Amino acid sequence: MRLLADVLREWDNRQYKDDEIIKWARSVYEEYNKIDEGVELNQASLPESLFNPVQILELIKTRRSVRRWKESPIPQNIIEKILEAGRWAPSACNRQSCRFIVLNEELQKKLLTDLREDWLKYAPTIIFIGSDKRNYLPVEYDYVPYMDAAVATENMLLMAHALGLGATMVKCTGWDLLEGRSHYYSGKIINMYEGLNLPKYFIPVAIVALGYPERIPKAPARLSSENTCFYERYDMGRNEYVPHSYSDLIDSDKKTLVNVHATSTKELCRIVAKRILKKFANKIGL
Ligand SMILES: Cc1cc2nc3c(=O)[nH]c(=O)nc-3n(C[C@H](O)[C@H](O)[C@H](O)COP(=O)(O)O)c2cc1C
Repeated sequence: MRLLADVLREWDNRQYKDDEIIKWARSVYEEYNKIDEGVELNQASLPESLFNPVQILELIKTRRSVRRWKESPIPQNIIEKILEAGRWAPSACNRQSCRFIVLNEELQKKLLTDLREDWLKYAPTIIFIGSDKRNYLPVEYDYVPYMDAAVATENMLLMAHALGLGATMVKCTGWDLLEGRSHYYSGKIINMYEGLNLPKYFIPVAIVALGYPERIPKAPARLSSENTCFYERYDMGRNEYVPHSYSDLIDSDKKTLVNVHATSTKELCRIVAKRILKKFANKIGL
């Protein structure tokens, strides 16, 4: 937009006459400027209890990944609140690329649960979160749809928790669906696309499995702020934590990739991810 402003200023400086394209560019620029105009914030109109930071932090900290549920179904108005929380998530350039598919029927859920973890099939409801990749095609920010979907997912997890439900986010990207797996799984992915009527431009990102909790797990520990938060500059001396699974991952990748010549493990991971994605794209005809 700064570039557009510069071009228009230069156009005016040179006193050129506006043609159709310049008129259109001016209208786009005006519209864009309106986005940030906003409205005056009237503090008095904000109900204080809704925005109580202590309660919000409590909500965030007491949310757990729940993987065992009662059989009772979730009322539709509750599902709608969760979807609303997802729809109101921030998104890059406000492109709102996220799409949410609610699955209550056993046969529909099976299309997904066949592909991911077993316990998912006990969830009374599954929300499948993906992104319409056409939103980002012109610039090819291929990671941005995942970011949009991730923030929307957290919004939904928090809303579900606030409503007394228990939920878990399960990753469900092309990588997760095909990782080290055979054609058997590729067929199931095709079934998923067909059964859920997914368009080719739908990128799967995550599953939220939810219901009324049967059991709430204990909170897994969090790293200290010492290890994770820095001011002004990163302090490697303080950040000595290495997740245990990282070294396992590297080992298993090395095994898978013995025939691939590359200089670093990071490079190996990149190559394998690319191959998996290519395979995935071929299978679903992208
Ligand atoms: C991006 C992401 C992917 C996840 N994928 C899975 C998954 O595939 N399977 C699973 O059981 N849990 C998954 N989880 C849940 C995490 O295991 C869980 O958030 C973590 O252990 C911390 O526990 P808590 O959510 O109860 O605080 C995922 C969470 C995130 C944020």
